Amino acid sequence: MPNLKVKLGRLELQNPVMPASGTFGYGEEYASLIDLNKLGAIVTKGVSLAPQEGNPPPRIRETRGGMLNSIGLQNVGLEAFAQQKLPFLHRFKVPIIVNFFGFTIDEYAEVAMRLSALEGVAALEANLSCPNIKAGGIYFGVGSRSVAQITKKLVKSTNLAIIIKLSSQVSNIKEICLAAEGEGAEAVTLINSIPAMAIDLDRKRPVLGGVTGGLSGPAIKPIALKAVWEAASAVKIPIVGVGGIMDYRDALEFLVAGAMAVQVGTANFINPTTMVEIIDGIDAFLTQRGIENIREIIGSLKL
Ligand SMILES: Cc1cc2nc3c(=O)[nH]c(=O)nc-3n(C[C@H](O)[C@H](O)[C@H](O)COP(=O)(O)O)c2cc1C
Repeated sequence: MPNLKVKLGRLELQNPVMPASGTFGYGEEYASLIDLNKLGAIVTKGVSLAPQEGNPPPRIRETRGGMLNSIGLQNVGLEAFAQQKLPFLHRFKVPIIVNFFGFTIDEYAEVAMRLSALEGVAALEANLSCPNIKAGGIYFGVGSRSVAQITKKLVKSTNLAIIIKLSSQVSNIKEICLAAEGEGAEAVTLINSIPAMAIDLDRKRPVLGGVTGGLSGPAIKPIALKAVWEAASAVKIPIVGVGGIMDYRDALEFLVAGAMAVQVGTANFINPTTMVEIIDGIDAFLTQRGIENIREIIGSLKL
């Protein structure tokens, strides 16, 4: 049996496969479909201070090679998460990573602080693809200065490991990852869905109620792979690769590019057992090649 264990900062995972935030709810819907204890970790839907209603419908549209969503960060809010959602997750032995966001830096810090006080939260993943209200709605994750500022504040607000989740839509991904690393992030997650839209030609209207949305699925895999590879050449902290992973071979490509772990998003909607199949597939791939430790694969890209 090959050793599939990996570390994300101080977090130890039994294998590198976990759901991508927002595609797995708070785990309840999947618990009857797969054994959640087989996963490397569970990652929740993004949590904010106050509940969010999200965008008007339609909120999902299939595209060629992917999917568009304009969920609009809908979530139950921190209080309901703590009381109604988190207790369910306590019955599983895998680490719980809570994805979260805010509309100001202070709000991010407050959510981080309050989440750290909850029992059974292993790490926090800050989604920086959220509009900064004080800076005219520019995403927090687009500049290295704002990423440094927010990471610094988050690290001070919590004792838990901070994972910074970023978009690929930036001018210099290496600089931004270095900024997160420099201020104490224990890992970075790359990438979020990519801003995109769809048009209904007959009605001459946007298909999505939110007008624009995020593109995910196989269409974005090459973009995500490049982001992971570039980031891996710049930082020492572990990278969590995400974007268009549909099977174990996709997942292994991310590990070869330098990711320590992977997240699976859109694929869960097509086949809820994808993550378990990916874990088994990685295991079989390593066994067939006589590779004893998954760490031998990570960052093994030859140029
Ligand atoms: C319906 C939906 C909801 C999402 N919600 C969140 C979220 O709350 N927080 C976050 O950081 N990313 C969110 N994402 C982005 C995913 O976590 C992931 O980064 C992206 O979908 C790319 O991975 P994939 O191609 O495997 O889906 C969401 C994606 C989808 C499709």
